[in-house]
Amino acid sequence: MATRFVFSLLLAVACSHAALASSSSVEDTCAKATATGSRTDLAPFCVATLQAAPGSDGADARGLAVIATNLTLANYTAAYGTIKALQQRGGWSEREQAALATCRQLYIEALNVVHSSIHALNTGQTQAYVADMGVVQRAATGCEDAFSSDGGGNGNRSATAQSPLQKVDDDAINLTTVAMLIVLIL
Ligand SMILES: *[C@@H]1O[C@H](CO)[C@@H](O)[C@H](O)[C@H]1NC(C)=O
Ligand SMILES: *[C@@H]1O[C@H](CO)[C@@H](O)[C@H](O)[C@H]1NC(C)=O
Ligand SMILES: *[C@@H]1O[C@H](CO)[C@@H](O)[C@H](O)[C@H]1NC(C)=O
Ligand SMILES: *[C@@H]1O[C@H](CO)[C@@H](O)[C@H](O)[C@H]1NC(C)=O
Repeated sequence: MATRFVFSLLLAVACSHAALASSSSVEDTCAKATATGSRTDLAPFCVATLQAAPGSDGADARGLAVIATNLTLANYTAAYGTIKALQQRGGWSEREQAALATCRQLYIEALNVVHSSIHALNTGQTQAYVADMGVVQRAATGCEDAFSSDGGGNGNRSATAQSPLQKVDDDAINLTTVAMLIVLIL
C-alpha cells in the first residue's frame, strides 16, 4: 500500500516535471540563447516566433534549432515570392527596380545556403552552420543596403529612404540571428 502510494507520488512528480519542462522550453531556450549572445532584446521575438511554430511545444534546444532553421527556409522562400510580386506590381523608379533585382538575386542565393546550413546542423558542424547563417543573413542586410545606398546620385535622399522590404528584411535578420544564437548554446 505504502509502496504504491510512494510510486504514484513519484509518478505525479515526474509528470508535473515533464509538463513544466515542455511548457517552458521555448522560453528557457530563448532566454539562455539570447543572454549568451548578449541579445536579450531578441528574446520576445524568439519566444513569439518559436511558440507559433508547429512542433515547438516540448522540443529541446536542438529541436528548436532545427525549427528555427526550417523557419528561415520558409521565410526566405516567402521573401523571394514577395520580391517577385513587388516587381510584377511595377511602378518603381529605376533605382528601386535595380534594388529589387539585387534583393531577388541575394535571396535566391541565400536559399541555397540555407540548405547547406540545414546539412551543417544535421551533421553537428557548428562553425559551418554559423558561417552559412552569416551568409544567409547578409542577403537581408544587403537587400536593405540596396535601397538605402545612394545609387541614383541625384542627392534626393527622400527618394531612397524607404525600402518596401524593410519588414521582410528585418524579420529575416532577426530569425537568422535567433537560429544562430540557439545553435551556439547546443
Ligand atoms: C524541417 O523541415 C524538414 C524538411 O521540410 C522536415 O522534414 C522536418 O520535419 C522539419 N523539422 C521540424 C522540426 O520542423
Ligand atoms: C518571416 O518570419 C516572421 C517571424 O516568424 C513572420 O512574422 C513573417 O511573416 C515571415 N515572413 C514571411 C515573408 O513569411
Ligand atoms: C525626391 O523624391 C520624392 C519621392 O520620389 C519626390 O516626391 C520629390 O519631388 C523628390 N525631390 C527632389 C528634389 O527631386
Ligand atoms: C527584430 O528584433 C528587434 C529587437 O531586437 C525588434 O525591435 C524588431 O521589432 C524585430 N523585428 C521584427 C520585424 O519583428
